[in-house]
Amino acid sequence: THVLVLNGPNLGRLGVREPEIYGHASMADLEREAAVWGSELGVTVDVRQTDDESELVGWLHEAVDARAHVVLNPAAFTHYSYALRDAAAQVTTSGLLLVEVHLSNPASRESFRHYSVVAGIATGTVAGFGFDSYRLALSALKHKLQS
Ligand code: DQA
Repeated sequence: THVLVLNGPNLGRLGVREPEIYGHASMADLEREAAVWGSELGVTVDVRQTDDESELVGWLHEAVDARAHVVLNPAAFTHYSYALRDAAAQVTTSGLLLVEVHLSNPASRESFRHYSVVAGIATGTVAGFGFDSYRLALSALKHKLQS
């Protein structure tokens, strides 16, 4: 099982950016931790981050073509990118799993964060648990594949 763990804009600034919300650990730390979780679950994980909407859309097309499942933190694109939603929809409608994740709980923050254009096409969502959101998403994905 292959999983792309895709991260949107500003998540490359983890550790520096608003640490009271997003924590002190970096994207490199997430890559290391995700590799360990993946090996425990028996899935290969490929963690990527971009600030570029078109690159993120391209990675979702790649997931469809490579038959890879996706853990996606769309970051701010969550709230307004129909292009990202349309690309993410191609993943789930082709029978692959896509779990939307957030470090923070957007529902408890500013009102513009309350709506996700991605949520309606995702297999499921995990939000509010910091890096654990990713660990829980990988675990849920693996369990759903086995059931
Ligand atoms: C985020 C929440 C989004 O609202 C925000 O724009 C982000 C990060 C999160 O992981 O909590 O950049 O997706």
